[in-house]
Amino acid sequence: MSETLEKFLNRVAESAEQSTLVKMTLSKPAQKHDDLRNIYVKPVLIKEKRLFAFTYHYERRDEVKNYDAAQMLDILQAMLPERFLNAVLFTVSEDVTLLVSSKGKATIQTKKVQECREQNLDHDKQKNRLINPANPWWYQLGLTTREGKITADMQHKFKQIYKYAEIVESLIKPMKFDGTVHIADMGAGKGYLTFALYELLTQRLNLDVDIKGVEIRSDLVLKINEIINSNHLKGLEFVESSIEAYHPEKLDVLIALHACNTATDDAIASGIKAGAKLIVCAPCCHKQIRQEMERSGKVNAIIQYGIFLERQAVMITDTIRALILEYFGYKTQVMEFIEMEHTPKNVLLVGQKTSKKPDKAKILQQINELKAQYGIKKHYLETILDFNC
Ligand SMILES: C[S@@+](CC[C@H](N)C(=O)[O-])C[C@H]1O[C@@H](n2cnc3c(N)ncnc32)[C@H](O)[C@@H]1O
Repeated sequence: MSETLEKFLNRVAESAEQSTLVKMTLSKPAQKHDDLRNIYVKPVLIKEKRLFAFTYHYERRDEVKNYDAAQMLDILQAMLPERFLNAVLFTVSEDVTLLVSSKGKATIQTKKVQECREQNLDHDKQKNRLINPANPWWYQLGLTTREGKITADMQHKFKQIYKYAEIVESLIKPMKFDGTVHIADMGAGKGYLTFALYELLTQRLNLDVDIKGVEIRSDLVLKINEIINSNHLKGLEFVESSIEAYHPEKLDVLIALHACNTATDDAIASGIKAGAKLIVCAPCCHKQIRQEMERSGKVNAIIQYGIFLERQAVMITDTIRALILEYFGYKTQVMEFIEMEHTPKNVLLVGQKTSKKPDKAKILQQINELKAQYGIKKHYLETILDFNC
C-alpha cells in the first residue's frame, strides 16, 4: 500500500473513531466499463450500533450494505485504487481528497471547511421507499422498463404490491425473531409479491431471511429461480411443490395470496401446524362452501340470487377460517387489501399468534351455528386439521 493511501485510510479510521465522519464518496471507476459507478458512505445508528452504510450505485440499481469501522477500512483498502481513483472524506471540520492518476500516482489534498457540519446517523433517508422499482428484478419480472419505470399496464399491479408491502411491514416490524426469519409464500405465482417481501425485509428492515416461494407450475419456478440467481438474492428460492405437499419444519411467517379455493386452507393448516407466528392470506375463489350451500337447499331470501350466494359463500368461508385461526390461538383480523377497483379479491386474513388462551367452546359454538344456518356439513379446513366441530 502506498504511503499516501495509508495516510488517507488513517484519516478515515480516525474520523470513524472520533465520530466526525460526515460522509465519504468513492468515484471515478478505474475500469471504464465497471458496472459499479460510485459508492456513497454515511454513518448510521442501527440497533444502538454505529455502522457505516455503503450505497453501491450500479448502472441500473442501488444496493445498501452496512459495515462496522474495521470492515469499512478493509473495503476501502480493496477498492482503492483497484476499483476507484477518487475518494473524498467529508468530516465535520475538513474535506480530505485522495486522487490517483491514471499512472497510479496518489496525492492527498486537505481543505478546512468553514460551514458548521455534523454527523447525521439517520439511515431512513436511503431506504424511505418500501419498494424500489429501479431494482433489476422488477424489469426481469416484467413490471418496469429497463430504466426502472413502471410500465403503464403494470401500474395497478404495482399499487397492489406497494399496498401489500405497507401492510406486511406494519405487521412484521414489531415482531421479534430469533435469527433468520423463515417464510413460505404459498402459491407464489409470478413472484411479484414474493420479491416485494424479500426486498422489504432485507433492504428496509435489515432482516436475515429464508423465503421459499411454493409454486406448482414448474415453468414459473424455473424462470423465477433464474431471476433470483442472476441477482444473487441470498435467502430467496422458489420450490416446485403443491401447497398440500409442502410441510416446512421451521416457519415463522406463512403467506398465501390468491391461492385457489381450498389451497388457501392447505396453506393455513400448514402455518398452524408449523406454529407460524404470523399467517397472512388473501383468499381466492370459495367453491367448496358455495357448493355445500347450494347442495343443502337451505336457500334464504339473500342467497337465492346468484351474486349474493357468491358473496355469502365468501364471507362464510373466510369467517370460519378466521374463527379456526382464533381457535388455534391466533388473534385474527380481516382487512381490506386494496381498493375494489384494482382487484375484487381484496380481503386479507391476518392471524397473529398470541399467548392468550382462546375460548375454544365459544368459538366452536359460533362455527357450528354458522354451519347449521347455511347447511354446511364441513369446512375443508376442519377436515385437514386435527380439530372437530
Ligand atoms: C392467482 S396466482 C397468485 C400468485 C401470487 N400469490 C399473487 O397473489 O400475486 C395463484 C398461484 O398459485 C398456484 N397454485 C394454485 N394452486 C396451487 C397448489 N395447490 N399448490 C401450489 N401452487 C398452487 C398457481 O399455479 C398460481 O401460480
